[in-house]
Amino acid sequence: MRVKVAVGLVIALVLFDQPVLAGVSQRSQIDRRVEALLSQMTLDEKIGQLHQLFYFTQFMKPESLEPDIRAGKIGSLLFLTDPALINRFQKVAVENSRLKIPLLFGFDVIHGFHTIFPVPLAMASSWDPALVEQAQSVAAREARAVGVHWTFAPMVDIARDPRWGRIVEGAGEDPFLGSRMAAAQVRGFQGADPSSPDHVLACMKHFAGYGAGDGGRDYDSAYIADAELYNVYLPPFKSAVDAGVGSAMSAYMDLNDVPATANAFLLRDVLRKQWGFKGFVVSDAEAVGNLVTHGFAEDKSDAAYRAFTAGVDLEMSFPGNPIASTYSSSLSKLIEEGRVTKAQLDEAVRRILEAKFKLGLFENPYVDESRVAAIHNNPEHRRLARVAAQRSTVLLRNEGNVLPLVKGDPKVSSVAVIGPLADSKRDIRGSWSFVDDIKSAVTVLEGIRAKVASSVKVEYAPGVDIARVYQSPFAIIQGSRAAPWTETQKRAEFDKAVSLARSSDVIVMVLGEQEEMSGEAASQSSIELPGQQLELLKAISSLGKPLVLVLINGRPLDISWAAGNLSAILEAWHPGSEGGNAVADILYGDATPGGKLPVTWPRSAAQIPIYYGHNLTQEPETRKNFTSRYWDIPSSPLYPFGYGLSYTTFSFSNLRVSKPEIKVGENTEVLVDVENTGRRAGEEVAQLYIHQRYGSASRPVRELKGFERITLAAGQKRTVRFTLGKPELTYWSGAVKEWVQEPAVFDLWVGADATAPLTTTLRVVKR
Ligand code: NOJ
Repeated sequence: MRVKVAVGLVIALVLFDQPVLAGVSQRSQIDRRVEALLSQMTLDEKIGQLHQLFYFTQFMKPESLEPDIRAGKIGSLLFLTDPALINRFQKVAVENSRLKIPLLFGFDVIHGFHTIFPVPLAMASSWDPALVEQAQSVAAREARAVGVHWTFAPMVDIARDPRWGRIVEGAGEDPFLGSRMAAAQVRGFQGADPSSPDHVLACMKHFAGYGAGDGGRDYDSAYIADAELYNVYLPPFKSAVDAGVGSAMSAYMDLNDVPATANAFLLRDVLRKQWGFKGFVVSDAEAVGNLVTHGFAEDKSDAAYRAFTAGVDLEMSFPGNPIASTYSSSLSKLIEEGRVTKAQLDEAVRRILEAKFKLGLFENPYVDESRVAAIHNNPEHRRLARVAAQRSTVLLRNEGNVLPLVKGDPKVSSVAVIGPLADSKRDIRGSWSFVDDIKSAVTVLEGIRAKVASSVKVEYAPGVDIARVYQSPFAIIQGSRAAPWTETQKRAEFDKAVSLARSSDVIVMVLGEQEEMSGEAASQSSIELPGQQLELLKAISSLGKPLVLVLINGRPLDISWAAGNLSAILEAWHPGSEGGNAVADILYGDATPGGKLPVTWPRSAAQIPIYYGHNLTQEPETRKNFTSRYWDIPSSPLYPFGYGLSYTTFSFSNLRVSKPEIKVGENTEVLVDVENTGRRAGEEVAQLYIHQRYGSASRPVRELKGFERITLAAGQKRTVRFTLGKPELTYWSGAVKEWVQEPAVFDLWVGADATAPLTTTLRVVKR
C-alpha cells in the first residue's frame, strides 16, 4: 500500500511538475496552521469567526465595533471601502486581539469597483467569457487596492422573469451561457492565487433558485422541481465550484418550502456531497434571523440551529438589528445543550480560517494606502471598460441601415439627444455602483459630443422625468432623486424636447430605466417604459426625422411599439463608466455591434415567463393553422434568445458532424462555415443548439451547447468547430431521477440565434 502511494507520488511529480506539489505542500501547511490556531481558540473566539457585520461609514462610528473586534467577537466586516478605516479595524484585530486573527473584509464588487463595467446582464450579452474574466480581474485589483478581500459575486442565478429586478445582476436565462459566465468571473476575481495583491475571493450567489420567485417578486418563494433545479438553476453554481470558487452565499427565499438558508439538501447534499465544495458558506444579510420571519424557525436560537446545522458557516448581520447575530447569541448555548457539537463548530471555523490563510491575511493584513490612486486611475481600466461596453451592446433593429451614423455627414449640422437617461451619470452605471468616481462616468450626450466635429450642434432635452413609485431601500446609500416635476414643468419639458427634435437633423433618444429600477428590491409588475417615455417617443417619431433609440436598462422592456415603428434600436443596458463613449463609438461606426441577447425578449409582460428552452407541445407553432398558442398575440417572443444584429451580414453553411453516429460516452465534432457576406468587418456569435428527440423524459425544444464569438473581415469565411459529447448530451431525468445519457437521435442547429434554421442530426447509440 505504502509503495503504491509512493509510486503515485512519483508519477504525480513527473506528470504535473512542481506547481502541483507546491499546491499540495501549501495546502498541508495551511492545514497545519489552521489546526494550530484552532487548538488555541476559546469557544467565544471560535463563534466570533462566524460573525460578520455591516459597517456603514455614513451612520456608524468605528468606536462602536472596536471593543468587539478586540475581544475576538467579529471575524469579518462588510461594506467598508475606505483603506484607512480598513487598516484601523485590522490593526485592532491583529495587534490588540488575543490571537491576532485578521478580519476578512467583504464588499459587493458586482461589475466594477472604481471603474464601472457594464452590468452583468450586459456582460453576458458580449458572449465573451475572456472579456468577462478580464473585467472582473480589473474589478478585483481595484477592490483589493483598498483592502477588500472578498466580493459577493458572481451572482449566477438563472432568471426567466424580467419583472424580477435582479435579472440585471446575472447572465440571463440560460444554464450553458450562465455556466460559462460564472466560471469566467470566478477566474477573473480569484486569479491563480487569491493571496496576490490584485485578487479577491469570489462568492457565488444566491444558492439557489432565487431567480424563480413567484410573480417575479423579489424574495418570493420558489417552487422548482428537481429536474429543473438540476438542469437549469444549478449548473452555473456547479460551474463556479469547478472553477474553484472560494465561497457561496445562501439565498433569501424558500425553495420548495424550505428556506435556502436552512436547506440541508442544497447546502449539504448538493454543495458538499455531490459537488465536493471545500469553501465556506455565508448567509445573505439577516437571512438567518429571518428564518423566524419566514415562519420556519421558532426563535433566534432555533434559527441559528437550523441554519448552522444545514451548512451556513458565517452569518451576515446588520449591527443592532433585533434579528441579527443569532450565532453570537445562541451558538454557545446550543453547544452546551449538545444540539450543536464542538466538531461541527470547528468545521465551520476551520473553513473561515483557511480562507484567511489562503488570502495571505496573516502575512499581509494591511493595505498600502499609497497605491490606491495609481491603481484606480490606471487608464487601461477605462479602456477595457469602453471595450466591454462596446461588446455588450445589442443591435436590435437597423432597417435601411440607419446605423452607423456618418461622422462628418454634410447633411447633418445638428443632433438632438433626448430622454431622461441621455445625460444621467448615475444611470449609465447601473445598480451596485457605490464607490466609483461618478463625476467621471460618461453619458451618451457627452459621448456623442466628444465624437462629432465641433461644427455639429449637439443639444439635449430630457423631455420627461421618471421615478419609482415606491422608493428604493438603497436610497439611504445612493441618495434620493430630485423632486418630481410639476404638471406645468412636465408640459414645458415635453414640448421643449419635441421642438428641439423638430429643429435637428438627427435624433438620438435615450430611454429606459434609472439604475434603481432594477437590482435588489426592484421588481416591477409591468415591463413598459416607465413614465411618459413612450408618449414622447411617439410624438418625436411622428416628425419623420432620422431617429435612433438607445436603451439604457437592466431588463428586457416592452418595446413592441418601437420595434414596429422605428428603424434603429440599440440595446446598451447600463453600460458603465465608459458607457456614453462606447455608445457613441457604436452609433458612429467606430465599433461594430456584436452582442447577443442572453434572454428571450417578450412582447409584453403578458408573455412572462417566456424562454427558448421550453419543452415541445403537441401543437408546436410550426404547425399549419396553429401559429400561436394565444388567440390575441403571437406566442413567439419579440426577439429570440441569442439575437443581435451587426453592421454587416453573415451566412452559416455546410453544417456537418465529424461522426454522425457515436456511442454513449463518445465525442463528435460539429463544424460549420461562417462567412461575412457584407461589406465591412464584423463579429458574429456562432451558437450550437441541440434537441434530444425522445428519451426517458421530455427535453427542451432547443438547448445551447456551444458558442464562439468570432471576428470576420468583409468576405472572410471561417470554419467554427464545437465538441459534443457526454457533458453536453447528459441531463437529469425527472423520470429516472438521476443523470442520464441516453441513446437517441439529436437535432443540431448552428446559427446566429435560438431560431437558427441550419440543421443536421446526430445519432447516439448504446455503448
Ligand atoms: C443582500 C443581497 O441579496 C446580496 O446579494 C448582497 O451580497 C448582500 N445583501 C450584501 O450586500
